[in-house]
Amino acid sequence: MTPIDFLSSRMSVSKLMSPAPNDAVLERVINAACRAPDHGALRAWRILIVRGDARSAFGDLMVNVEREKDPNLDEGRASATKQKALRAPMILVVVSTTKAHGKIPAIEQVLTAGCVAHGLLLALQAEGFGAVWKTGGATYAESMKAGLGLASTDDIVGFLYVGTPAAPQQDSPRPKMSDVTTEWTG
Ligand SMILES: Cc1cc2nc3c(=O)[nH]c(=O)nc-3n(C[C@H](O)[C@H](O)[C@H](O)COP(=O)(O)O)c2cc1C
Repeated sequence: MTPIDFLSSRMSVSKLMSPAPNDAVLERVINAACRAPDHGALRAWRILIVRGDARSAFGDLMVNVEREKDPNLDEGRASATKQKALRAPMILVVVSTTKAHGKIPAIEQVLTAGCVAHGLLLALQAEGFGAVWKTGGATYAESMKAGLGLASTDDIVGFLYVGTPAAPQQDSPRPKMSDVTTEWTG
């Protein structure tokens, strides 16, 4: 497959199973994603690796967020929320450790973290793994950040659920160049 064919084949995989990437694969994947463009080389991102039993504690944090929104959350919804943390053998939490900077605004730092997340998705696919980028309410909850050991100035860019594709993924319609471009002629 040519590089352009590979890039053109990227897609999310939502049904995931074990195994997760092993440490050697994960290191290649993360090192590749660290090639993200980064204004000022601020390196203002971190990746939290959540796997094994830690996913259960991660699920508890998600349940806490739901309870903050609805103190009467019933057991069924709590259990369904917790189950989300177990839908893949690994979760990569991509965090923008956004800093005040005289020249480089927060949005650029968050964009770099977004590029890191995209790089992770591509690198995981290149290594034969599947992944899907999710956010949801927990992304923006202070209690989630605190539970993950993050500062309130940090921004969670996404939760990447990672594993082995459990079933062939149906592709979806994609925009083409003509859909997204305008020739600007001045
Ligand atoms: C910042 C961001 C947040 C997202 N959050 C969610 C989410 O919470 N739930 C979801 O189903 N998809 C979410 N998506 C979309 C999926 O990751 C995915 O892109 C989408 O299902 C389309 O599949 P594709 O990646 O194959 O085009 C998010 C994507 C981005 C970039």
